[in-house]
Amino acid sequence: MNPALAAALSTEQREVYNAIRAYADHRNVAVYLVGGAVRDWLMGHPAGDLDFTVEVDAIDFARGLMEAHGGQVTAHERFRTATWLWVGHHTDFTTSRSETYPRPAMLPVVTPAPIERDLYRRDFSINAMALRLRNDVLVDLHDGQGDLSRKEIRALHARSFTDDPTRILRAARYAARFGFSVESATREWIGHGLAYLKDLSGERVKYDLELIFGIPQPERALILLREWDVFRAFGISVPEAEALRARFDAIRLHLRMWHTATINLTRAELIHAIGWGALIYNLGQLSARRWLDLIPHTAEVREALVSLGVLSTLSATLFDGKPSRQSDILRPFSGLALLITWLFDHSASKRAAAFSEWHAWRGMQPVTTGDDLKARGARPGPIYGKLLASLRNAWLDGEVTSADEERALLERLLSQ
Ligand code: CTP
Repeated sequence: MNPALAAALSTEQREVYNAIRAYADHRNVAVYLVGGAVRDWLMGHPAGDLDFTVEVDAIDFARGLMEAHGGQVTAHERFRTATWLWVGHHTDFTTSRSETYPRPAMLPVVTPAPIERDLYRRDFSINAMALRLRNDVLVDLHDGQGDLSRKEIRALHARSFTDDPTRILRAARYAARFGFSVESATREWIGHGLAYLKDLSGERVKYDLELIFGIPQPERALILLREWDVFRAFGISVPEAEALRARFDAIRLHLRMWHTATINLTRAELIHAIGWGALIYNLGQLSARRWLDLIPHTAEVREALVSLGVLSTLSATLFDGKPSRQSDILRPFSGLALLITWLFDHSASKRAAAFSEWHAWRGMQPVTTGDDLKARGARPGPIYGKLLASLRNAWLDGEVTSADEERALLERLLSQ
C-alpha cells in the first residue's frame, strides 16, 4: 500500500483495504478507492469512511467479500450499491457507473460504465479522483490534485448543479470545511442551478444542511449560501451574517455547560436540532413557518422549533420577577427549546431563567408529599396541588430554606 495512504488509514481501515485488494486480485476485478478518502489522504487528513467503486456488480462483489471474511452486507438494489460491515467499519461499494438525470433535481438513472465515466459523474474535481488498488495508480482525470493545491472547489461541467442542486449546498460545505474558494466558472454554474433548488425534496435539503451543521464552522458555509442567494431561491430568509456568526460562536463556547443527558437525542441529532434553532430563532413567524413546512423533523424536534416562536417573543421583563413566576412561564417548554433559547436569546435574564428552569427549578420538589397532607387530615382534592405548589414556590423564591421552615409554612397555610 502507498505509505502516505497507509498513514491516513486506521489499523482497521488498512485491514479492510488489504482484504478488498486481495479479494479483487483473486477475482481479477478492477477496484478503486474513490471520493472523500482519496481527497483526505492527498490532503494529509485522516480518511473518513472508505468508498470503493468496482467495475463489476457491487452487490455481488460485497457478498463475495462477506463469504470470504464474514461481516454483514446491506444491499441497495436501485443503485446497485452495497455496504459491508466488517471489523467495526462500514465500507461502501458502488458499481462503476454513469448517471443521467431525467429532470433537474430528480434522482439519477444509473448505467454501468467504466471508471472514467464514473469519475465524470461526480460533483467536484477534488472528489473525482480514484486509486486503482491493483497497481496503486492514482486516476486523476480532472486535475483534482491541482485544485487541492490551488485550494479551489471546481465542478466538472456546467450542468452539475442543475442535475443535482444539492451540490450547491455541498460546494459551500467543502469551501467552509477546507477554507477553499469556489472557482469562478463553478460560481457561475451555481447561479444557474439556483432555480432548481425548490424542486428538491425537504428530505434532501435537510440531509445536506445537517451535514453543514456538523462541520466545525457551519456559519462559514451558511454565510456563503446566503451570499449566493440560495435561501432566497427557497423563498426563506435566514439571520444576517453577523447573527449567524454569533450564534455558532455561542454553540461552540457554551453548549458543554448545558446538561443534555436527559434530552432524548443522540449527540448528532442534538447538533442538528440546535443548527435548525440557529437558523430559525427570532426569524419571525412567516419565515420560521416556511422552514418548518419545508423540512421534515421528528415530533420532538418539531415541537421544540415551533415553540421558539413563543419563547423568542416573550418579553424580557417577565424574567425580572420571582423565580417561581418565571418557572411557571417556562415549565411547558421542552429541554431542547430552553437550550436553544439559552444559546440564542438576547436577554440575559431570559437566558438565565431558561438555564435555571432546566437545571434547578424543574426538578425542585417540596419535602411534604400528598401522603403527608392526607396524614395531616387535609381532604384530597385540587387543594393538594395548590398547597404543594405553594411550598415548591417558597423554595424557588428562597422563602423557605429547610425542611423545618417548610413545615412551619405548611402549618400557616393549613390554618388559613
Ligand atoms: N457525490 C456526488 N454528488 C453528490 C453526492 C456525492 O458527486 N450529490 C460523489 C462525490 O464524488 C463524493 C462521493 O459521491 O466524493 C461520496 O459522497 P459522500 O459520501 O457524500 O462524500 P465523501 O466523498 O465521503 O466525502 P465527505 O463525507 O468527507 O464529504
